[in-house]
Amino acid sequence: MQTLSTIGELQAAADAARVAGKHIALVPTMGALHKGHISLIERARSMADVVVTSIFVNPAQFGPQEDFEKYPRDLVRDSAQAQAAGTDILFTPDVAVMYPRGFQTYIDNNRLATILEGLERPGHFRGVATVVTKLLNAAKPHIAVFGQKDAQQAALVRMLARDLNIDVEIVVAPIVREPDGLALSSRNVYLSPEQRKNAVALHRSLEKAAEMVRAGERSLDVLRDTMRAVIEGGNPTKIDYIAFVHPETFEPMSEVDPRGTLVVVTVRFGDTRLLDNEILRNT
Ligand code: PAJ
Repeated sequence: MQTLSTIGELQAAADAARVAGKHIALVPTMGALHKGHISLIERARSMADVVVTSIFVNPAQFGPQEDFEKYPRDLVRDSAQAQAAGTDILFTPDVAVMYPRGFQTYIDNNRLATILEGLERPGHFRGVATVVTKLLNAAKPHIAVFGQKDAQQAALVRMLARDLNIDVEIVVAPIVREPDGLALSSRNVYLSPEQRKNAVALHRSLEKAAEMVRAGERSLDVLRDTMRAVIEGGNPTKIDYIAFVHPETFEPMSEVDPRGTLVVVTVRFGDTRLLDNEILRNT
């Protein structure tokens, strides 16, 4: 595995790979790699000749009160894990490389970026869209792999590639979970043992909703109330939102579409926001 940290080096490596007829896959991450990230790298490995994994904690997507400073960073461990999972090129730029003095061009999105997570975290998706565009222009991949864990981010990236004619296939890989159902997240390390125990309620509430839809329930109010009861049942938590949307467009739904309705839930455990989702279907 090669480790590169400037845009020019990565672009040169991408050009050389393309000239040699090789297919490039990019896996963008912010590090603190866990099995969810590893599954994306393995997916990329199975689809391309050259796998580029980027590790960059992107300041542009953190709000002023958010955890940019304390976001977990461990490049030595990440590097070993990325290599073991099949990374060929590890891209680890620093902030001055990605946002040099005078940087002033951002990618905005008028709908997807302003609902749900975009409402809770103003500016977040502007930062994501901008950094993902920059990473795509640096790694020049044929394929870029994202996780369904961040469903709205995945939808935004698809939209961005489509709207801006970026010639890349966006692949979205399934959510990897702990044995008890908690979706893996770099932010799970912030949870106290008590909060960690209570956090399984997110996935339980999604499972409950999925089961009710399979049994014929179509009312979003009924599903939302049931999920709320499962999550709040004795837990000192605050639900930010439970939303039912079209899985690709994120258009809101008025009742369950049994062919596929995405339910997204975000809950606060103390200062830690956890995010989970599931596609509800009638089968
Ligand atoms: P990060 O949170 O590090 O996540 C990197 C990728 O891993 C994202 O595509 C995310 O959806 C995926 N991922 C996280 N947890 C997962 C899980 N449990 N199962 C499957 N995939 C999972 O998302 C970001 O970084 C940033 O916003 C980024 C896209 C890198 C732009 O800065």
